[in-house]
Amino acid sequence: MTSLTLQRPDDWHVHLRDGANLSAVVNFTASRFGRAIVMPNLNPAIVNLALARAYRERILKALAPGMGFEPLMTLYLTHNTSPEEIARAHASGFVHGVKLYPAGATTHSDAGVSDITKVYGALARMQELGMPLLVHGETTSGDIDIFDRESHFIESVLHPLIERFPTLRLVFEHITTAHAVTFVCEAREGIAATITPQHLLHNRNALFTGGIRPHYYCLPILKREHDRQALLGAATSGNPKFFLGTDSAPHERKAKENACGCAGMFTAHAAIELYAEAFESMNRLDRLEGFASHFGADFYKLPRARDTITLIKESWVAPISYNFGEGTLIPYRGGENIPWRLLAKEAL
Ligand code: DOR
Ligand code: ZN
Repeated sequence: MTSLTLQRPDDWHVHLRDGANLSAVVNFTASRFGRAIVMPNLNPAIVNLALARAYRERILKALAPGMGFEPLMTLYLTHNTSPEEIARAHASGFVHGVKLYPAGATTHSDAGVSDITKVYGALARMQELGMPLLVHGETTSGDIDIFDRESHFIESVLHPLIERFPTLRLVFEHITTAHAVTFVCEAREGIAATITPQHLLHNRNALFTGGIRPHYYCLPILKREHDRQALLGAATSGNPKFFLGTDSAPHERKAKENACGCAGMFTAHAAIELYAEAFESMNRLDRLEGFASHFGADFYKLPRARDTITLIKESWVAPISYNFGEGTLIPYRGGENIPWRLLAKEAL
């Protein structure tokens, strides 16, 4: 039996939702990860410190007994986010980043940023405080091909932004292209990126295998094989600018299997196991711990974990569905084999 013990990893990008949906998913994340950066795109969005504090309390309440899990909160950046609110959030000690959604880019992004110049005041304060900006990096214009939106965003928004704010710390979230990998590698210090398991394991063919596959639809959308190879190379390179962020994003089954289905893949039930699969495919399991457990903590200037998790090479079959509030949730690879298993008392 092959086994792999890692310092406990963290998930630097996850959607935990709220209410009954939160209770349905949070313990999958908490069983695997010590901490997670929690996305603020609820409806209404987490736009200030008071909302972040209340959301954090709800997350802690939804945890199963004994889960030593720490939610790391984020604020949702809008044209109305004041520099003072940024400073208050930073001083709280539990808000660790501010999320930039280009308005209209994805789920609950309508309140996001349509004119970047309107948030310059907030960004200047973040730069001063060392508070990271977490960026959904896609152009929203319908004129730009959906597969080119990340590349377009790099040129039209990111390059000018990091020049204007030369010491702003920035995480380019869930990168999906070879272009983004090159951009991050060449960028100055303080620029990092997260990578999801689905973008390491699949190219865009997964969306159309034998028919249309709504459970493989997420944003940014899966790209070409050439891009996937670049992401695998980056994740397994040992470069600390690249670290784990699942972007696990649950939606009720009916909202996915729909004439206009929502973007988001739910991977939290097998998240670290899926990264092990991807790293093993590159013969680089030795680099998983840096990517999953060290580089993100170092970037966010938080201590590395003091406990461990163990994975064993033993295949298991993920359930075909989970309860999710009033409905159900179709997990990634439900009913299919997953080659790595989490060996832990608290495994769900
Ligand atoms: O696929 C996605 N789902 N991408 C996002 O950026 C948002 C997320 C969600 O909240 O469902
Ligand atoms: Zn996300």
